[in-house]
Amino acid sequence: MDKSTLKKVDKRDHFNSRIGFILAAAGSAVGLGNIWKFPYQVGQNGGGAFVFVYIIFIIFIGLSVAITEMVIGRSGKSNVIGCYGKYNSKFKIVGWFGMIASLLLYAYYAVVGGWTIFYLVKAVTGQFGAASVGSFETMFDSFCQSPIQLIIYQIIFLVITAFIISKGISGGIEKYCKVLMPGLFIMLIIMAIRSITLPGALKGVEWYLKPDFSKIKGSVLVSAMGQAFFTLSLGVGTMVTYSSYLKSDENIGTTSISVTIFDTLVALVAGFVILPAVFAFNLEPSEGPGLVFETLPHVFSQMPFGTLFAIIFFALLIIAAVTSSISMLEISTTFVVEKTKMNRKKATWLLTLLIFLLGIPVVMGFGPWRHVQLAGKTFFNIYDYFVSNITMPLVGLFGTILVGHIMKKDIVMNELTNNGTINVKLKMVWYTLVRWVIPIILFLISLQSLGILKI
Ligand code: TRP
Repeated sequence: MDKSTLKKVDKRDHFNSRIGFILAAAGSAVGLGNIWKFPYQVGQNGGGAFVFVYIIFIIFIGLSVAITEMVIGRSGKSNVIGCYGKYNSKFKIVGWFGMIASLLLYAYYAVVGGWTIFYLVKAVTGQFGAASVGSFETMFDSFCQSPIQLIIYQIIFLVITAFIISKGISGGIEKYCKVLMPGLFIMLIIMAIRSITLPGALKGVEWYLKPDFSKIKGSVLVSAMGQAFFTLSLGVGTMVTYSSYLKSDENIGTTSISVTIFDTLVALVAGFVILPAVFAFNLEPSEGPGLVFETLPHVFSQMPFGTLFAIIFFALLIIAAVTSSISMLEISTTFVVEKTKMNRKKATWLLTLLIFLLGIPVVMGFGPWRHVQLAGKTFFNIYDYFVSNITMPLVGLFGTILVGHIMKKDIVMNELTNNGTINVKLKMVWYTLVRWVIPIILFLISLQSLGILKI
């Protein structure tokens, strides 16, 4: 098997190996979305009921949309706008919409990526030792109140990612991901065991697993759908761009299934790390984006060798975040390189600068500008809502219309079955979902997220 996986993705290159593509796609999917966002979304949306809806959405919608995006990408063999516009030029706008969302997404993702670096520094300097209850909340709050610190760590995160991409994501990524992804997973399992066995944690387990169906309302559906798209890196062109480099003999169906299963397992285990601990330490599960950064240090401080665990954990989390960021930046980098013939390095750094600037309101919104709000949302929440809850389902919706109604069925089926050479068992189930069921659901969810429909 060729080791140089993602080698120079410009010039219509190919992924050289099957496992290489799966790892790159899994690297994109598994990130802060699983470990940071999923637990706090569960916390804000009522526990088990959210988890229940989320899993249903992942199985019936996320997976199908992932396959749809891979079909669009591999048959389009171009940047995201070229791919969406190939069969009907009006659909270029869908690609544009996705690409703009990817910039905004990366802008706030990098701020949170910066938090993970800050926490690694704290761990290395031994500050997770014997801290008193309450001190980790103070630590997080005072960090957020300091724009200078946030910006420094945001920049470090952006520079690491840009550096890797500008090098053309050379052979290393496959080699590293093979060890690091399972490593992250094992760490999470160890931490989950510690968390579940804390005194008072079982209430949290129950709250996490036992759905209270009366809690399912419109906003929960919108959040669960947003989270399903976010976690699988759908609806902004990542999977389209990556699959445009995929060779024609790869199996799109099984690849998507592997990525989806791994991604979902990581999120569910992360929930077992965070939520039982939240209950054990009497924290508020609905606290939001800071939740993970306040509970995790508590868990570490209660573990033997906690500092060591903390260091390894945050290092792995940073890597998971970077492999996701790479996929976000890759969308616009591929586009700029293909459109302007600018060299890859220059494109990467220019886009990074743009993203840095877009991230400034997010940074300020945690501190001095936290009173600047739109419909009760700070800049961070506005960006996230626009990207996860509005753009992603809409881009997903138009993607399914493209594959289900605009592309010829033969072309779609040939792409899925590699010109009839592989037998894809549930292909008609998938096709029916994509043609009829998913567009209707995504349409309703979009109306709800835009405030037009109110369940
Ligand atoms: N899926 C990643 C996570 O869970 C985030 C991510 C990477 C992403 N690329 C994306 C989300 C593209 C949406 C679209 O952390």
